[in-house]
Amino acid sequence: MKKICVVGLGYIGIPTAVMFASKGYEVIGTDIRKNVVDSLNNLKLPIEEKGLDTLFLKHPFTAKLQPVIADVYIICVGTPTNQNKNVNLSAVKSASNSIIPYIKKDTLVIIESTIPPGTTKDIVLPIVEQSGLKAGKDFYLVHSPERVIPGNMLFELANNDRIMGGISPKGAIVAKELYKCFVKGKIYTTTATTAETAKLMENTFRNVNIALANEVASICEQLKINAWEVIELANKHPRVNILQPGPGVGGHCIPVDPWFIVEKTPKQATLIKQALEQNELVPNNVVSKIYNIANSSKGLKVCLLGCTYKANTDDIRESPTFVIKDALSKDNQVVLYDPNVSNYSNGSIYDACKDCDVMVLLVNHQQFSNIDYFKLATTMKNSIILDCKNFIEKEKAIKNGFAYYLIGDGSVNK
Ligand SMILES: NC(=O)c1ccc[n+]([C@@H]2O[C@H](COP(=O)([O-])OP(=O)(O)OC[C@H]3O[C@@H](n4cnc5c(N)ncnc54)[C@H](O)[C@@H]3O)[C@@H](O)[C@H]2O)c1
Repeated sequence: MKKICVVGLGYIGIPTAVMFASKGYEVIGTDIRKNVVDSLNNLKLPIEEKGLDTLFLKHPFTAKLQPVIADVYIICVGTPTNQNKNVNLSAVKSASNSIIPYIKKDTLVIIESTIPPGTTKDIVLPIVEQSGLKAGKDFYLVHSPERVIPGNMLFELANNDRIMGGISPKGAIVAKELYKCFVKGKIYTTTATTAETAKLMENTFRNVNIALANEVASICEQLKINAWEVIELANKHPRVNILQPGPGVGGHCIPVDPWFIVEKTPKQATLIKQALEQNELVPNNVVSKIYNIANSSKGLKVCLLGCTYKANTDDIRESPTFVIKDALSKDNQVVLYDPNVSNYSNGSIYDACKDCDVMVLLVNHQQFSNIDYFKLATTMKNSIILDCKNFIEKEKAIKNGFAYYLIGDGSVNK
């Protein structure tokens, strides 16, 4: 059976290594972070993921600081953007460099990192061919994008459909045969550049459609009608599915990946760039709305409910909450409260809202579905609510004396 070396042991590399180990493969994981390597060798996972610790303890793998001889290399290093929104490929390049001495006849090299179109062919291929062997002829080079969602990774690793984009058609087929050991979904083969672009288009689709939903909200605020009702009714059309408005886009993929397309094809990707930029303005629009409904932009005490980028997770990466907090904090006091995030979960929602002028619901965590509005009204200084997710029990809030405002309807333009 083949020996697999997974390069980059983060949110993607560890579950991938465990999946292969659980199917009987000899797996070695490598990472440049010593604490990650030590932790794994002490049988402690450096990341949290539902069910992963149990599977890892049953099928542990050895971790090292350097790659070792193997039949398959799977590169899962990070691909962040820099301040100009351009991708930083330094980890992909150094990981590719690190495996050059080990590439031999029939080695399979797979890039799982999310990368701009053409990266496998134009950047990774020249690096790995420094081995003296030809990709597609002597060894295989494939891009296999990852589309799992944190919190449900083990299920999605097994059940999602997958794409194998080969530098050569044979490489894609060899990779497909390998992943079949744990992938129950369909595996499609194509070219590396098509696979890279398909992956990026998935998150681009979401980003552009969130921008549209936020624009529907602005239009309806202007028209003094309710965007949530407009969207609900429009979605009764059998071929329409408008997403929901909100306080902005967060997470490590949706606001990041579309920039890879813009970087590569700036003249063509104008709609995508506009959607990205429009979504980036949304948190500041929320701040303006807070000032509008509070009749002031200074000296307020505001409680922001929810610090994560989406509901019912503890992931705060790129969350719009922090953009809103930074803008408000210049002239106002801001309290952050999130029962899912340990740094912001002290006390109760009523403690967090004590003496506040405005409570802003930014994330529809299930814990915010049964607020005692009578108790909340007694603890706040001014009973004002801004609901950015259409999640507050409006009737109950109003019955207890709250002035209730919802983004996407005329109420915020008072
Ligand atoms: N996390 C997700 O949910 C997700 C989903 C889909 C795609 N992706 C993509 O997968 C890739 C990995 O994401 P992640 O969340 O696992 O990142 P991560 O930051 O959690 O892990 C990356 C790991 O790579 C290590 N690393 C960096 N350079 C290295 C090198 N030269 N050699 C060995 N190790 C090295 C880092 O120390 C780190 O532990 C990214 O391109 C990301 O966009 C992530």
